[in-house]
Amino acid sequence: MKRVIVGLTGASGSLLAQSVIDQLLTLGHEVHFVASKLGEKVMAYELETPYETVLAAISSGSFPIDGMCIVPCSMGTLGKIASGITDTLICRAADVSLKERRPLVLMTRETPLNGIHLENMLKLSRYGAVIMPPVPAFYNRPQTVTAIVEQTAARALRTLGIMTEAYPVWNGEFGDVDE
Ligand SMILES: Cc1cc2nc3c(=O)[nH]c(=O)nc-3n(C[C@H](O)[C@H](O)[C@H](O)COP(=O)(O)O)c2cc1C
Repeated sequence: MKRVIVGLTGASGSLLAQSVIDQLLTLGHEVHFVASKLGEKVMAYELETPYETVLAAISSGSFPIDGMCIVPCSMGTLGKIASGITDTLICRAADVSLKERRPLVLMTRETPLNGIHLENMLKLSRYGAVIMPPVPAFYNRPQTVTAIVEQTAARALRTLGIMTEAYPVWNGEFGDVDE
């Protein structure tokens, strides 16, 4: 059983957070969910069944955590983490993850990206964060938006060392597709 922080910010993509949490809970992992103020608003708009924000002892490095995923991660929160600003619980928990050398996955969501976004991503990547924009895989021919969301969430969990059924595996063969 792993203990994972899921941070949700005000970027579009609450469905991804919902899928990450559902897959973690289905496998029996412990989830500490935190939403930013804007994240709560966007989530209420995008999801029919919003999650409750649960505040926990995650602002301290002494609280053992196996990994953190910010999904979706806004450019605002990305910039704050890259600058060491810890004025929200999500930013503080991410800061702690970096200082304690714990896995930190940022599912950054914005397009197109400006130079500031790119520099912040590069900086955090150099300091150990995994920059993981929600880019879908199409080689396994997903038929629904739900399938795309689940697979994208599963890839983020794989980065935290958690394998789930939804993880898309390419078996190396094109099958009935002309090569
Ligand atoms: C409907 C909606 C969608 C948004 N989508 C994005 C987005 O995809 N990426 C992003 O960086 N900001 C997005 N924003 C802007 C952020 O919510 C805003 O920058 C906010 O201050 C981020 O704060 P937070 O990171 O603390 O949640 C969106 C705002 C709204 C209202």
